[in-house]
Amino acid sequence: MDREDHDTIRISLDGEAIDARPGDTIAAALLRARITTFTRSIKYHRPRGPFCLQGTCGQCLMRVDGVPSRLACKVRAEEGMICERQNGPLGVDKDLFRAADFVFADGLDHHHLLTGSRVLGRVAMEIARRLAGLGELPSQAQGPIPAELRTARLVVIGAGPAGLAAARAAGNALVLEKESAAADPAFASELMLGAECVGLYTNDTPLPGNALLAVRTGSRLLGIVAERVVVATGGASQPLPFPGCDRPGVYAARGLLGLPLRVGERLVVVGDGEELIDCSSALERRGYVIERVLDIQKVQPVRALGNPVRALDTSLGERIRCDAVAIALPPAPLHELASSVGAHAHWVGRLHGFAVQVDADGRTAVPWLFAAGRVAGLDAISSGEAAGRAAAK
Ligand code: FES
Repeated sequence: MDREDHDTIRISLDGEAIDARPGDTIAAALLRARITTFTRSIKYHRPRGPFCLQGTCGQCLMRVDGVPSRLACKVRAEEGMICERQNGPLGVDKDLFRAADFVFADGLDHHHLLTGSRVLGRVAMEIARRLAGLGELPSQAQGPIPAELRTARLVVIGAGPAGLAAARAAGNALVLEKESAAADPAFASELMLGAECVGLYTNDTPLPGNALLAVRTGSRLLGIVAERVVVATGGASQPLPFPGCDRPGVYAARGLLGLPLRVGERLVVVGDGEELIDCSSALERRGYVIERVLDIQKVQPVRALGNPVRALDTSLGERIRCDAVAIALPPAPLHELASSVGAHAHWVGRLHGFAVQVDADGRTAVPWLFAAGRVAGLDAISSGEAAGRAAAK
């Protein structure tokens, strides 16, 4: 069949051709084609679809051009790309291993399965070994990745409102932003887009500086030695635990807002506080029909039904028909980079997670490390300015 127009990109999924639009991620292209099961869960082989659509939940992992476990929600679709779903040895759409969920209705204890018999125990272990894990090794061994090392006085990780406020207050900083389109045109410091800090360490290179950052930029690796670092990594959309919350068709509200398409017409939006109000209005402006807004302080979701989800039961005893469910909870602080190098994180509450502990100037327990904005559970602008000023001294 001819393509609709020459702007269409063609990729394949498990050998079937899929049309994508320029700028689509693989996830967007598949959702556009109404494909919602992206993989299977490791143990019970339950269907899994994308949730966060922002690269943080890991529910969209897919083999792309022979490389396993790539994030379909972050990889741009390119002409001829070969995508394969993982963890469905007998087919992801109708995975027979799904039977494990029903055969072991009370839960599968793989530590003790058939251990009463030596022989059966070994057989069970071999089968479990073969079924365990996600994806297969890459088709080709990857060659060495080009890398370089540079220095900077102050590095700000994240170009959201807090990171930009910190950089402006500091006057001169290198700002790393993992997204490739988050530029502030009036921004004076050095801004690296598409630069993801994947590791933060105490510097042990011969170069002078306190911190060593490992940064991924496209297919290159960059090491940065810095005197000081401000972490402004923001937060990540978090799920809400209830039966069926892991089914395809339950999405993070912010993820839906970032998609270039709608995943249906009718949504139920479930969440809390300002995030619920703001996301519901924004989704309505995106053209969704909001069937119901559920404030979890008053009504609980009891069960999501269908694959993809087609209805939501509530604690009021009603069944709300919908095309998808959007979860709108306050994003959980992305404290891991700061914590990994020794900053303390403290529990802010069930709906907020762990935030980096800072003083009034954004100082953490690590002398050269500062934190600002949502990652520290604080207002973006004021905490960004305070951390930027203190880090620049
Ligand atoms: S990581 Fe891709 S949907 Fe969450």
